[in-house]
Amino acid sequence: MKNVIWTPQPRQKIFMERFENEALYGGAAGGGKSDCALAEALRQVNIPHYRGLILRKTYPQLSELIDRSREIYKSAFPDAKYNEQKHCWTFKSGAKIYFGAMQHTKDRTNYQGKRYDFIDFDELTHFTWDEYSYLFSRNRPNGPGTRCYIRAQANPGGVGHGWVKERFITPAPPMTTIYEDINIIFPDGHSEKRQRSRIFVPSSVFDNKILLRNDPEYITRLASLPENERKALLYGDWDSFSGQVFTEWKNNPDGYKTHIDTHVIEPFRVPASWKIYRGFDFGYSRPFSVGWYAVDHDGRMYRIRELYGCTGTPNEGVRWEPLEIAKNISRVEKEDINLKGRYVTGIADPSIFDESRGESVASMMERAGVYFEKADNTRMAGKMQLHNRLAFDERGIPMLYVFSTCKNFIRTIPALVYSASDVEDIDTQAEDHIYDEVRYVAMENPINPPPVKAPQVIYNPLNTEEYAQYGKTIIR
Ligand SMILES: Nc1ncnc2c1ncn2[C@@H]1O[C@H](COP(=O)(O)OP(=O)(O)OP(=O)(O)O)[C@@H](O)[C@H]1O
Ligand SMILES: [Mg+2]
Repeated sequence: MKNVIWTPQPRQKIFMERFENEALYGGAAGGGKSDCALAEALRQVNIPHYRGLILRKTYPQLSELIDRSREIYKSAFPDAKYNEQKHCWTFKSGAKIYFGAMQHTKDRTNYQGKRYDFIDFDELTHFTWDEYSYLFSRNRPNGPGTRCYIRAQANPGGVGHGWVKERFITPAPPMTTIYEDINIIFPDGHSEKRQRSRIFVPSSVFDNKILLRNDPEYITRLASLPENERKALLYGDWDSFSGQVFTEWKNNPDGYKTHIDTHVIEPFRVPASWKIYRGFDFGYSRPFSVGWYAVDHDGRMYRIRELYGCTGTPNEGVRWEPLEIAKNISRVEKEDINLKGRYVTGIADPSIFDESRGESVASMMERAGVYFEKADNTRMAGKMQLHNRLAFDERGIPMLYVFSTCKNFIRTIPALVYSASDVEDIDTQAEDHIYDEVRYVAMENPINPPPVKAPQVIYNPLNTEEYAQYGKTIIR
């Protein structure tokens, strides 16, 4: 055995044996997830045209993986060379394994036109659905004889928690193959049904005997975390963690012009007959938020302009007095071609009308000619209105669009997570000022929920009884 450099531990072996197109490994901390990704990527390096890609959200996060790859890859393949600039290993055959990051959704264009036989997302819950699904199109063979597939590892929590849970965890018990029917319509009009498969293979630190031996205190550290994190990271409980609220959110550059399958669109000249609203959430040491919306004849809302009082440090306010905010609102309404000369209905947080501590914010702003009506601040109803508006109809058209120039909306809305104390509502510690302001305008123009979609049919050919006990075993 002295020539063996890396052997999978039993759980890692189960993961590495899976046949599905997509497989997610982990669900708890320390289960040997990243090691498994590095080993899996090596499988086809004897094929000269093989290309593998291992992704983390940012390059600094990748460095840990790269360090570990130097240990494993260099010992297993002494001829392999690592290029620091390209973040790429080249093997003797010519095969390559790249390390990549995707800090912003737009970074996905770095992968445009490239092909990878194997793509792995380490810490998948740090990625959005858009980022993950975009790379499906890059999972293509570079030549004959390679296997094309996608693997991922994740812990609960993070911006992708909601969609990862929906895709891999909730549809079926762990170790159950989930089949998705894909209907392909060909240019000649005929259609064919295909299937794609995916699976969740759970693992936790209890499956990583090597780590337990090297660092016996690791479990103690996980066990002393606050309850929610402990449940998530030690036991892989996907329900105890606060996940992304607006999982419907899509920022899809392919739809910027067509308005299909995206919430973000290119700005356009708003027709004169559409109504204009201005939403406002006041803040001083925290950011204030002003959003202008146009509403078309179908009741569809477009966020056309924003003025966000943030210093540049997330969630830090610019400390403008109400009069100064009002002057800037007037300036924008005189300058912007979509607002100039238009009647604007202002809707604001009812607390700006509070006079118990002297002159109200609303009355100070009136001095600069900026007027507001009191918003309906009912939190749950407002949140539902946003869900209703973000939902896509069967054509891929939502009831809320956002101009691509509204950078702060695009940054903060998808990052909102559920509160740990009130699991139905969003975490108000997060940067929620734009959320509040859009909620006020949405409540002014309420719409009905979209029709309910038919449930997904799951085909389960495997005997999963053995694994149904898995969750119980690890908690014991
Ligand atoms: N098959 C293996 N052979 C040798 N060592 C292993 C193996 N699997 C895991 N390890 C050891 O366990 C450590 C932790 O594993 P790894 O980093 O893969 O866990 P993880 O699940 O990615 O953890 P985290 O949740 O912190 O990201 C590794 O650094 C490595 O030392
Ligand atoms: Mg890891």
